[in-house]
Amino acid sequence: MMNPRKVLDRVLVLEMVRVTEAAAIAASTLVGRGDEKAADAAAVEAMRAALNELEMDGTVVIGEGERDEAPMLFIGEKVGSAIGSGPKIDIALDPLEGTTITAKAGPNALAVLAVAEEGNLLNAPDVYMDKLAVGPGYPDGIIDLAKTPTENVEAVARAKGVTPADIIVCVLDRPRHEKLIAELRGIGCGIMLIPDGDVAGVIAVTNPETTIDMYMGSGGAPEGVLAAAALRCVGGQFKGRLLFRNDDERSRARKWGITDLDYIYDLKELAKGDCIFAATGVTDGSLLDGVKRLPNGKMTTESVVMRASSGTVRWVRGEHRKAS
Ligand code: FBP
Repeated sequence: MMNPRKVLDRVLVLEMVRVTEAAAIAASTLVGRGDEKAADAAAVEAMRAALNELEMDGTVVIGEGERDEAPMLFIGEKVGSAIGSGPKIDIALDPLEGTTITAKAGPNALAVLAVAEEGNLLNAPDVYMDKLAVGPGYPDGIIDLAKTPTENVEAVARAKGVTPADIIVCVLDRPRHEKLIAELRGIGCGIMLIPDGDVAGVIAVTNPETTIDMYMGSGGAPEGVLAAAALRCVGGQFKGRLLFRNDDERSRARKWGITDLDYIYDLKELAKGDCIFAATGVTDGSLLDGVKRLPNGKMTTESVVMRASSGTVRWVRGEHRKAS
């Protein structure tokens, strides 16, 4: 049996793009159709079929939900064409990150996947996560979820040699972030409010063209692990703390072996060791262009695949004759 590291090396890096491309193309047929569920279902089905063609013994560790709530790509589902014999790979996936965005034809919907050797991705329950991220080039430990938003912005501004008023923070536009937004506005920060899609929001801190310096606020914990996997590959810092709204969520986390419910996770604890992150744009966004249908019947896709151990980032433009 090929050892898992070699599989990550040789096989999966580019194969992963096929998987996210398939999900993105399937979801793209439903962009702007006002049907979140149908768009998500199309992406899930296509991603699952593509994953099942890969020669691996894959386990979904972050997926569409727990077995009783998700018919496909549920947590614990085995995928791949070599279950029981192939290399053991853990998979975190979101076939359609931005279901509402897709339904409304908004920006930044992605098909997303991260893979790592068995045991290297945090099995995050589907609860919220408080997230804090900054791009590459800052001293280690510059951001800290135990500190206030103001303290974090001040630290980043100092390191950048600017004032807090020059810092732009990306935040999900949600009523629960009212206090955070008021605090950031109070110190003069620019705030980029996004309607959805915090995987792209977090990754945006790594791209100077977006002008976003920091990401703050709560969103899905699974999306937090996916974003952390991407930052492991391209650099930057990320902190995440699980947030529980009720006892049911707390007991689910304990069931998954999480004992310290207030723990602040660092990037390397969310996605350990080597990992690969891949995404394909469904709609145009700051990271990737969406799926385009050309008059000649062809389609184009734009994807990125990156790897933590080498730091290689590959941008892949696909031309497809028909939906795969
Ligand atoms: P979906 O694709 O599942 O709709 O997720 C979109 C998203 O915006 C994520 O990017 C984010 O982490 C989460 O929803 C935030 O959750 P909520 O909409 O409950 O604030």
